[in-house]
Amino acid sequence: MSFNPTDYFVSETLGFVLENPLTTLPDYFEAWNRLATDMAQLVAANTMRQQVEQMALLDWTKLEGHRQKRLAHFQLTVIASGYVWQNGDKGASKTLPACVAVPLYRLSEDLGLPPVICHPGLALANYAPIDPTKPLILENLRALYHLPGGEEAEWFCIATTMVELTFARCIKSVMAALRAVENDDVKTVTSNITHITEVVRDMQTAVSRLHDKLTSDTFFNTLRPFLGGWGGENNPLPDGLIYLGVADQPIHAIGGSAAQSPTMQVLDALAGVQHAQDKRAFLLSMRGYMPPAHRRFIEAVENQKKTLHSLLESSKDEELHKTHNALLSAMVDFRSYHIQIVTKYIVQASSKVKQSDEKRFESLDQKGTGGTSILPFLKELRQDTKDQMAGANASGDSIINSTS
Ligand code: HEM
Repeated sequence: MSFNPTDYFVSETLGFVLENPLTTLPDYFEAWNRLATDMAQLVAANTMRQQVEQMALLDWTKLEGHRQKRLAHFQLTVIASGYVWQNGDKGASKTLPACVAVPLYRLSEDLGLPPVICHPGLALANYAPIDPTKPLILENLRALYHLPGGEEAEWFCIATTMVELTFARCIKSVMAALRAVENDDVKTVTSNITHITEVVRDMQTAVSRLHDKLTSDTFFNTLRPFLGGWGGENNPLPDGLIYLGVADQPIHAIGGSAAQSPTMQVLDALAGVQHAQDKRAFLLSMRGYMPPAHRRFIEAVENQKKTLHSLLESSKDEELHKTHNALLSAMVDFRSYHIQIVTKYIVQASSKVKQSDEKRFESLDQKGTGGTSILPFLKELRQDTKDQMAGANASGDSIINSTS
């Protein structure tokens, strides 16, 4: 096997999470540091737009290196989100001033990222250890920048980062399993898949930490609107957003969603989970919201000459089949748990809002930030994962019957 995770900006310890992200930009970019830091307060005071409009157009080419560019991209997406959504969806701005639009658009082209808030900023490059001498566990993380919602919004970011960091613990096993598949080394494949399964179970535990501090009210009504992008049916800006100084035509870009995380797509690729055309199309479109190297990493896992699937077809080793089913079962459970999260934080939260008159962001009610009709879509992805299990084995059945 000729591929090495570091060639894809994938770290053997941090996975897709950016190592040691910068916390601020050099002085020349002080206005971006300040507006990104103060975004939530400025939005609350209704002065975000005014502040942005007073900002000078800075020269993004003065940014040096990947980490400065990633931070600048993230800051500008936070600023753009505050600018567009400050006055709710009915008061959404149809244009983004050139002082944000030009550097954001050009940087996005340079990095291969979309010019909108997205997972690579919010979850992969938005953390610092509180105590740098201690390990990167949830209690020792802080977010660098966050959307409206105070500590809860910060928790949303770092809990998501923690899911990524948990996945990172199986990167070496993913690589070892792929190598062993190529060498028909069933025993090594089995032991590594077992470890990956444990990690997927830990990812579920990591997601469950969201409940500790994030309420559905704050998520749905305060934070989520600022995760939104622009363009498409049911969006407050159906035609998209005009990036002044870039193009006269509005640009479409969905906002931030952890569907833009490479983790589950890597697991699908490794475990051989197939999704029907429409769902695959959505997941492929999410790759456009990942750093290009991470996209290529998923493709490299998908395009191995010899796959786990083909090994399973040719091998009668019972342990191997059982282990593969256990991995699928852990992925089904992760997806089931995630469906419960979506039910609490979006579906139920949206029905509570419907009973009141306060609806600044009504267009976002029943859709994912990615614009999918949420629950049926997520249940189909889970069903595809179940369908991959060999036969109707016992471990699969228990899960299939226990979830709605
Ligand atoms: C409040 C917390 C969360 C909510 C409300 C939520 C909501 C959603 C929604 C609505 C989708 C459908 C795609 C879209 O339209 O955006 C989605 C997809 C997805 N989310 Fe989350 N999510 C949350 C947290 C997380 C976390 C922490 C992770 C872990 C990294 C995660 C991983 C995924 C994945 C992998 C998908 C793609 C579907 C799949 O592969 O099963 N989500 N999420």
